[in-house]
Amino acid sequence: MCAMETRRHGLIDRFIGEIDKAIKVLSVPARAARGTPTAPAEAEDLSESERRRSRRLMRVNHAGEISAQALYQGQALTARDPTVAGAMRKAAAEETDHLAWCAQRLDELNGRVSRLNPLWYAGSFAIGALAGALGGDRASLGFIAETERQVESHLEDHLGRLPPADARSRAILEQMKHDEIQHGATAAAMGGRELPLPVRFGMRLMSRVMTRTTYWI
Ligand SMILES: [Fe+2]
Ligand SMILES: [Fe+2]
Repeated sequence: MCAMETRRHGLIDRFIGEIDKAIKVLSVPARAARGTPTAPAEAEDLSESERRRSRRLMRVNHAGEISAQALYQGQALTARDPTVAGAMRKAAAEETDHLAWCAQRLDELNGRVSRLNPLWYAGSFAIGALAGALGGDRASLGFIAETERQVESHLEDHLGRLPPADARSRAILEQMKHDEIQHGATAAAMGGRELPLPVRFGMRLMSRVMTRTTYWI
C-alpha cells in the first residue's frame, strides 16, 4: 500500500471513530465515575409547574454537557502537546459525569432530552476541532477557559431560577459549577490565551441561542 493510501485509510478510520463516538454520546446512557451529588428524595415536594420548570432547565444543562463532550473530543483530536491532550481527557471524563447526572435527574423528573442534541454535538465538535487546528494549543486552551467562564455564569443563573424546593437538581448544578471553575482555571494556567472580544461575544450569542431553544425543544 502506498503512503498516500495509508494516510487516506488513517483519515477514514479516524472519521469513522468520531462518528462512532458521536452516536455513543447521543444514544448510549453515560456512566458517571463519581456518585451523583444528591439531596434526599423524600424531602422533595414540587408542584407540577415547578417540576416542569426544573425539567426544562435540566434539559438545557444536559444539552450543554452534550456540547461539552463534542467540544473536548474535537479539541483532543487537534491538540499537539500530550500534556494538553491529557488535561483535556481528564476534563472530558468529568464532563461525562455531568452528562450522566443531568440525564439521571431528567429521568427522575420525567423529562426528555433535547431533540436538537445531534445539532449541538456536530456544531460544538466542529468549533472545538477548528479552535485547535487554526489557533493551536494556546488558542484551544483559551477557548476552554472562556467557555468554562461562560458556563459558570450560566449555572449561576440556573441556580437562581430552579424552584427553591428542587434540592436534588441544585446539588448537581453546584458540583458542576465547582468542576467547571476548575476546568477553566486549569486551561488558563496551562497557557490559555485570552480570546479577542468579538470571539467572546460570538460565543455568548451562540450559547444564548442554544439555551433559549433547548428550553422548549
Ligand atoms: Fe460540564
Ligand atoms: Fe467543564
